[in-house]
Amino acid sequence: MTSSSIRIAATADLHIRIGDDLAYLRTALLQAAAQADVLLIAGDLVDVGRLAEMEYLAPILAEIPIPIIAVLGNHDRRGMRRSAMIKVLRAVGVRVLERSGALVEIAGYPTLGIAGVTGSGGGFRPDGEEEGPSARVTRAAMHKSRRESALLRKSLRELELLNPDVTVVLTHFSPTPSTLGTEPVLKYWMLGNALLGRTIDEFSPAMVFHGHAHLGNEIGQTDGGVPVRNVAVPVSGGIRLLQFDTDGTVTDVGLIPVAFDATRGGSREEVSNAS
Ligand SMILES: [Fe+2]
Ligand SMILES: [Fe+2]
Repeated sequence: MTSSSIRIAATADLHIRIGDDLAYLRTALLQAAAQADVLLIAGDLVDVGRLAEMEYLAPILAEIPIPIIAVLGNHDRRGMRRSAMIKVLRAVGVRVLERSGALVEIAGYPTLGIAGVTGSGGGFRPDGEEEGPSARVTRAAMHKSRRESALLRKSLRELELLNPDVTVVLTHFSPTPSTLGTEPVLKYWMLGNALLGRTIDEFSPAMVFHGHAHLGNEIGQTDGGVPVRNVAVPVSGGIRLLQFDTDGTVTDVGLIPVAFDATRGGSREEVSNAS
């Protein structure tokens, strides 16, 4: 190992539709690749959830010359074609995290472990307290949050055995309300859940990256003090670049702007896919 640091480019919520002009995104991603060692995408790559949208985006991702690790977002899963979506991404070299983590080993750089799941809603109130529009919806969200947290714990444990120099977590839903910004409190139950945060706090990774909360704020932390970044494009304004040193120092290196159509990923769509 010659370098004591590794640079991560992170983004989410691209919400690509067929026909979008992808030239700007291609340029931004290539710029990110020139300045970072790894690209993380925290879900909602596409908007409507059609397989054709992912096929439309995939050739751009194929051109990016650094490792890409992603989790799916609720919009990527809207069309119920989860496996097919993952297949399209894997065909262009994107590592999609669902049930296990990823270890990125680049010669001359610290090893990077990434644990990731999509996550789910469920909210941030104590377990069992009704938060959704109905007890049934809340129960379903809580069930899903337990399942997703168990998967995240499993992948963090597996990574722990590999002992990477730097470990980060990648989710679509938020593990904390501290990055939900101006999102209405009534929507919190579908933006993330506390269990995810508690699971992360068992392991103390260097950072958590998430998306999904379009009206959120960029910087927060879990209850246990793990730094959290909401890297949704409508929040960060593009692709965030961060440097992770093996001594634990994290440095903001910059932002590569990406335009966002604010009509994408509207609240009605988020509601319909919350569970
Ligand atoms: Fe989104
Ligand atoms: Fe989302």
